[in-house]
Amino acid sequence: MKRTDWFTDARFGMFIHFGLYSLCGRGEWVRSIEHMDEKEYLSYFDDFNPDIDFRYIARLAKEAGMQYIVLTTKHHDGFCLFDSKYTDFKITNTKVNKDLIKEFVEACHEEGLKVGLYYSLLDWHHRDYPSFNDLHHPLRGVMSDEGKDFNRYLSYMHHQVEELCTNYGKIDIMWFDFSYEDMAFEKWKATELVEMVRRLQPGIILNSRLICNGENLKKIPYRGDEDFYSDFTCPEQIIPPLGLKDDMGHDVCWEACMTMNDNWGYYEGDNNYKLSSQLIKKLVECVSKNGNMILNIGPDGYGKIPEEQVDILKDIGKWMKANGESIYKCGRSNISKPENGRITQSGNNIYYHIYESALRDIPLYGIDKDRIDYIELLDGHKLLKIEDNWIVQRYPDMVFVRVSDKAYLPDDIDTVLKIKYRD
Ligand code: GLC
Repeated sequence: MKRTDWFTDARFGMFIHFGLYSLCGRGEWVRSIEHMDEKEYLSYFDDFNPDIDFRYIARLAKEAGMQYIVLTTKHHDGFCLFDSKYTDFKITNTKVNKDLIKEFVEACHEEGLKVGLYYSLLDWHHRDYPSFNDLHHPLRGVMSDEGKDFNRYLSYMHHQVEELCTNYGKIDIMWFDFSYEDMAFEKWKATELVEMVRRLQPGIILNSRLICNGENLKKIPYRGDEDFYSDFTCPEQIIPPLGLKDDMGHDVCWEACMTMNDNWGYYEGDNNYKLSSQLIKKLVECVSKNGNMILNIGPDGYGKIPEEQVDILKDIGKWMKANGESIYKCGRSNISKPENGRITQSGNNIYYHIYESALRDIPLYGIDKDRIDYIELLDGHKLLKIEDNWIVQRYPDMVFVRVSDKAYLPDDIDTVLKIKYRD
């Protein structure tokens, strides 16, 4: 039993990027990209009064087939969605005056979803966070670092993480973001921080960005034979083409994080949405390579989720309702990727995802005829027989099935067959 077992069974999660930047409407990096000074940004603080409904969002996630949700508690801008006693730059000092992390956690628990908290290690609001020579700070090259005490910032950061691990009940994922240049690992006092997090939340799992950014496996140190500093690595806006293994060739637990359009935080006018069919196939691809997928939504400054994002979640949910069994508790198969789709597997259950139809009977590449107990169309569980007509008889070693009497596939995104193997 590994603490990541629930995570690799779950396979599919929701990311939520929500904060003061959502009201600005130009993404969560707006202060850095526009070199925005604090005074201008604080105007959003005065106006921030969103009516965000985490119960609605938790239901949406569940209906989409997602098993966990990760919410930004504090992004790089330093604004806290929780009632931290270490800062005034927080939601409970705005017109909202509610601890949104408390509401979020309760909503997830009500829907039986696992809870993830995203926490940015960077903090462009805190007076002791480096600025002048920093790579990303909004006032880089402008604000002097004179009088700054980085240890005082680290104490603040560690205390806030302690609040998050203490005040909201069971937390399942701590999603740190992110390390860069020398701002990594013990610069954050990572060992002390992880010891505290694991003491307060014994079963919690951590991503790898205390150590590195994305999936830079080279940098993740091991302490003993367990993953102490990080339980999973997090490639961003990419699915590792060959999956992810460590130097010894062992599988690495990973989660690809991705946006529906081009932005994490709400960005007015960003309508560059991926098709829901694309995202369904990306989820299948992640699982076929032994990984998870976390898909982001970015509510606007009023707490409203863009309609396009709701529609995508509902489309994915329809497919997951019929085919979720080929995602949950599944992973990579030893059968090579077939040319007409992908394969996911769980024990003796092989899930053959057909993306491309055939002229008539569909070849099931790599399937061992002698081991088949039965084949069914997963959506509806209609049993399929192995075709043995004059056309396919020329290929006696291959398995052919006819999925339907129509010339096209029942599901034009991904028609899933379940092939039960005998032991
Ligand atoms: C990158 C972005 C950050 C976002 C994160 C999500 O680190 O800079 O804004 O929250 O990816 O993975």
